[in-house]
Amino acid sequence: MTFNKSIALAVFISFLFSCKEAENAQIDTKIIPVPSHLSINDGTFIINNSTGITYDSAFKDSAEFFKSFIENGSNIQLQKNKSIEFIKDGSIKNSEGYELKISTDKIEIRANSDQGAFYAVQSLRQLLPPEFENGKFNNDSVQISCVTITDEPQFAYRGMHLDVARHMFSVAFIKKYIDALAMLKMNTFHWHLTDDQGWRVEIKKYPKLQTIAAFRDETLIGHYSNSPQRFDGIRYGGYYTQEQIKEVVAYAQQKHITIIPEIEMPGHSQAAISAYPELGCTGEQPIVASKWGVFEHIYCSKDETFDFLEDVLDEVLELFPSKYIHIGGDEAPKKLWKSCPNCQKRIKNEGLKDEHELQSYFVSRIEKFLNSKGRQIIGWDEILEGGLAPNATVMSWRGTSGAIEAAKQSHNVVMTPTSHCYFDYYQSENSNEPLAIGGYLPLEKVYHFNPIPEELSRKESKYILGAQGNLWTEYILNEKQVEYMVFPRILAMSEVVWSTPKHKNYKNFVNRVEHFHKRLEALDINYANHLYEIEGNLTSVGYELKTITSNNTIYYTIDGTKPSLKSNVYTEAIPITKNTIIKAAIFNDKQQLGSLFTQNIVYHKAVAKQITLNVEPHKSYPGSGAAGLINGISGSDTRYGDKEWLGFWGEDLEITIDLGEKTEINSVETRFYNSPGQWIYAPKEIQFGLKKQKIDSIIKIQTSTKNTSEVNLTINKKSRYIYLKIPNYGIIQEGNQGAGNKAWTFIDEIIIK
Ligand code: ACM
Ligand code: ZN
Repeated sequence: MTFNKSIALAVFISFLFSCKEAENAQIDTKIIPVPSHLSINDGTFIINNSTGITYDSAFKDSAEFFKSFIENGSNIQLQKNKSIEFIKDGSIKNSEGYELKISTDKIEIRANSDQGAFYAVQSLRQLLPPEFENGKFNNDSVQISCVTITDEPQFAYRGMHLDVARHMFSVAFIKKYIDALAMLKMNTFHWHLTDDQGWRVEIKKYPKLQTIAAFRDETLIGHYSNSPQRFDGIRYGGYYTQEQIKEVVAYAQQKHITIIPEIEMPGHSQAAISAYPELGCTGEQPIVASKWGVFEHIYCSKDETFDFLEDVLDEVLELFPSKYIHIGGDEAPKKLWKSCPNCQKRIKNEGLKDEHELQSYFVSRIEKFLNSKGRQIIGWDEILEGGLAPNATVMSWRGTSGAIEAAKQSHNVVMTPTSHCYFDYYQSENSNEPLAIGGYLPLEKVYHFNPIPEELSRKESKYILGAQGNLWTEYILNEKQVEYMVFPRILAMSEVVWSTPKHKNYKNFVNRVEHFHKRLEALDINYANHLYEIEGNLTSVGYELKTITSNNTIYYTIDGTKPSLKSNVYTEAIPITKNTIIKAAIFNDKQQLGSLFTQNIVYHKAVAKQITLNVEPHKSYPGSGAAGLINGISGSDTRYGDKEWLGFWGEDLEITIDLGEKTEINSVETRFYNSPGQWIYAPKEIQFGLKKQKIDSIIKIQTSTKNTSEVNLTINKKSRYIYLKIPNYGIIQEGNQGAGNKAWTFIDEIIIK
């Protein structure tokens, strides 16, 4: 069967069960991440107590995993015979690739390595009922649809990160996390083990890392931007012993997961400096940080620091066999280096230009050490500043420019841009979401991520090894919340890194996610469910409501009441001619499924008029384009990444609104987002005029600690045009996150009354 036909049949129509399949509701072919090639054949294979398994000795781990999955999941005991056979096949070139052929009398798993066979088993597992996941499958036999799958990954690096410094999680949970990664055919766990707020890996040579650096006296309560900041007064911390780490690494190996440890340097090292103040530039003892952010106490570049780091890394290398060691490199303020005699001497003696070159010296020296031990370094994209160490791999987080620069210099890259890969951002616009750092990264945006930046040539794109979802845990207090933030976005990420773009289809993916919920429940994973939320859009014909799931109905009201099964059924765009509040929800035939959707439309004088911008919004934060600034709808108070906020990085913005004819203008209102931690700053002023390109007045904007800065101009004049010039805030000052970089401007609706 050709690819196109098989995909058409298998992927897009697999949920339209054939008559035979409908007889057995347990049969399905919904796999995440979607395989390269899946075709459904006639018939079913039955697993029962006479089914057996044989395997090539190379596939012992995978075969035993499968045997345990069946036997722990049900009362079925597998025999030793050839009905399920693991076969080594040298013709499969990709060591992570596999073939899975299920016929009525036999299952054949072909691969060239145990890892490939393991991924075949993960697909096979998803063809079995979810009750197998928690030992609750009670029948004597189970039927699986006959399918042929040929599959291999798109990217070699398929990762998830977890920060255990800000909040720490149990060994049992780390194993559960690893299990979930493996189920989704991910192969890398990036374990962020050290930071300002805690050091979490036992280093025997430096006991104060355990007694001092692993504990903070208290922790910030609520959001960093709350004023005043409050603390809980409760000592918090802990660390993983070397025995525990060895146990986790061995566990991950069985699941074909490589663990990359991250030991942060030269910044994000305040906890270590608290334990050993001599590692810093001033000799002062800072506290183990009790709040979030970027701190000035970073490692000094004197020889003693390198002795310490080499000792630490020696122990780390014993624990982690990974090719890569992550050395951090991000967010290292250079303030103390500038006034430190040791660091200035280093700059002079090494012929370095400035502190950026000193950071490069720091990273390169550690790289040389790790290369001498047969390892490679990977670091956040700041390691490009002052010159990239010769063999370094770059983890691109501040957008994609670091990735582009590194790939053009023939360095390998892992993609983790905040815009698409930061799972600590909000995933829903619902105001009931648990507190998060900010931002907005819904499932769909993760799903549509393409790890290859379009600026790269085909040859350069070979340096993009893959991508990774990151979970920073400042606001993630416990394991259930880790799961909530990671699921279901990890499902989308697994498809980003495993599946080929031409096989991806968001609607089909959502259908598979909905189906996957039962498996997650059986695995006791606390996933977020935003599939039954409503998306609204104001268009030229009115306000449109849509939902991504099928088979459900949207009910709505425009009189302020809560929708019910007796309200209007949504069938076409709702005409909007005045201020309107739309309330809507999705119902099946009995009850409401998702949360209530409320949209307040302010039908002001600029709605649906002409608007032009001098620059396009940044491609990671396009909102709904320029028209979204005058569509009557304001953005979220807490999620700047939604489709009403437009983001611009470093650019001065000029906006011209054409009302079509001379119109009485009483007032002009807009607002800007503030989120210094994400480098987002309201402008210091805006310039305003009533003719194109002409400025009549300048309005100063005070710095604010609130999420948004409002601007409200009283005009009381007639004009056809409104002209706004919005200079970017400028370069972020020392002492702040992102210091030295351009600030972002985020602007919301421009309301003309
Ligand atoms: C980072 O988010 N500071 C890498
Ligand atoms: Zn120094």
